[in-house]
Amino acid sequence: MKITVKQGKIAEYVTEALVVALCESEKGLMYGTKRLDKSVQSLIKEVMATGDFTGEANQVAVLYTRGAMRPRRIVLTGLGKKSELDREKLRNALAKAAQKIRQLNIKELAVAVDGDELGLPLEVATEAAVEGVFLGLYQFTPFKTQEREKIQEVEACVFLVEREVSMPTVKKAAEIAATICHAVCFARDLVSMPGNRMTPSDLAQEAKALAVVRKKVHVKIIDAEGMKKLGMNALLGVASGSCQPPQFIILEYRGGRKGEAPIVLVGKGLTFDSGGISLKPSEKMEEMKSDMAGGAAVMGAIMATADLRLPLNVVGMIPATENLPGGKAYKPGDILTSLSGITIEVTNTDAEGRIILADALTYAGSYKPTAIIDIATLTGACVIALGENVSALLGTDDKLKAGLKAAAENTGERVWELPFWEEYQEPLKSEIADLKNAGGRAAGTITAAVFLNKFVGAYPWAHLDIAGAAWRTKEKPYIPKGASGVGVRLFVRFLRDLAKEKQIAEGVKVRE
Ligand code: BES
Ligand code: MN
Ligand code: ZN
Repeated sequence: MKITVKQGKIAEYVTEALVVALCESEKGLMYGTKRLDKSVQSLIKEVMATGDFTGEANQVAVLYTRGAMRPRRIVLTGLGKKSELDREKLRNALAKAAQKIRQLNIKELAVAVDGDELGLPLEVATEAAVEGVFLGLYQFTPFKTQEREKIQEVEACVFLVEREVSMPTVKKAAEIAATICHAVCFARDLVSMPGNRMTPSDLAQEAKALAVVRKKVHVKIIDAEGMKKLGMNALLGVASGSCQPPQFIILEYRGGRKGEAPIVLVGKGLTFDSGGISLKPSEKMEEMKSDMAGGAAVMGAIMATADLRLPLNVVGMIPATENLPGGKAYKPGDILTSLSGITIEVTNTDAEGRIILADALTYAGSYKPTAIIDIATLTGACVIALGENVSALLGTDDKLKAGLKAAAENTGERVWELPFWEEYQEPLKSEIADLKNAGGRAAGTITAAVFLNKFVGAYPWAHLDIAGAAWRTKEKPYIPKGASGVGVRLFVRFLRDLAKEKQIAEGVKVRE
């Protein structure tokens, strides 16, 4: 998707479809129309008189201008009440309009959003609008080989700006948003890919490809041999049932000062989780190709962070493997000695995510990071507790958690904190080893986090369980069914805020 910004009168812009986003009216015209050309205004008034379009959220109406102005069609999209307008409503409305235009098989669309009149800062409205269009139009089609000509794809989107003074702000915001959306769609692609086409080695290949074209991104891959040498026997244990070799992927983005402690992001990278010997039921097992969504989010976040040139050091780590049953597979009852030295009694081979993350979290400590954040499709219990619109947040550091909560509100990638009290240690006690890997059904998301915490050391740490949000069974306007790419926008917002805070503290002129 190519996103550009142009200045000019919207009634004079030649296009097949111009999107105008509007809030519900109180009387007369709707919010968002004040600066529109008289001809456009009267067209909108006419439709409003019929009652066909009121500006309610997610309403879309296509108007044919019949030569009265340059755009051939005006696509109205509703934002709901002005008093309730937020970024999320804008994302949804723009996604709906863009999808309508795609249905009409139009290849290029134009957008007019008057952020000022709607009461939102111009850059906020622009970023949200770009996200709506870009993310709402995502589709995953590489494996559809027949009748490819029937696949409708919008190729370009022009944001129209009426006033010269607004140009720099809108241009910059659109550029930033498009960069981030590109990374979100990259993560969605990785997650959508089936297990046979996105093996741990394929994922490592993607990491290399990402790094090679970005000067400040460096990639390191630790293979099974290297893992053995280091003592990553937890990760190796999970990998033992698979013929696909595991890969420990490290992406270092060096945007900060040399020697400055980094933030480490750790993402679960199960390219397929069958449950192993504790085999999962076959129903919906195919969705477990998405069990590397945490890893994909980390890769997307590093991509966007590098492309935005944030002045930070950020390290991404993705332990990648399959979890399969077989003659060499790890078994219930097995005891694994992790990289940290902590021994793990495996009581359920389907609780594999925490085992591979254990070694990754220990390895993260070798960077002496300022913080560690992990992200994982870790527990079915999380889906039961919070559903598919919300991720679970746990951790040991209030400031870190507050930063993630703020980023979540901002991006619409919602999180909800779960408690982390002492009592939750109990279910993981093992008779024969230091820890059990599974604590039973009660408080499953929390006990999983308790397990992870044992491997973190003293570093500020937060954990995101994205089991529900990573894979959507129901679409929402700007997130089609399937891979959501959740985590990328959350991390990037968090890192942008952090960069800003750091620059203010250092007295540097703020550049976002
Ligand atoms: N990858 C799954 C968790 C999952 C389930 C993610 C459904 C998305 C949708 C994870 O590896 C797993 O199987 N967890 C077990 C842990 C249990 C055995 C303690 C679970 O949640 O059932
Ligand atoms: Mn599992
Ligand atoms: Zn899993």
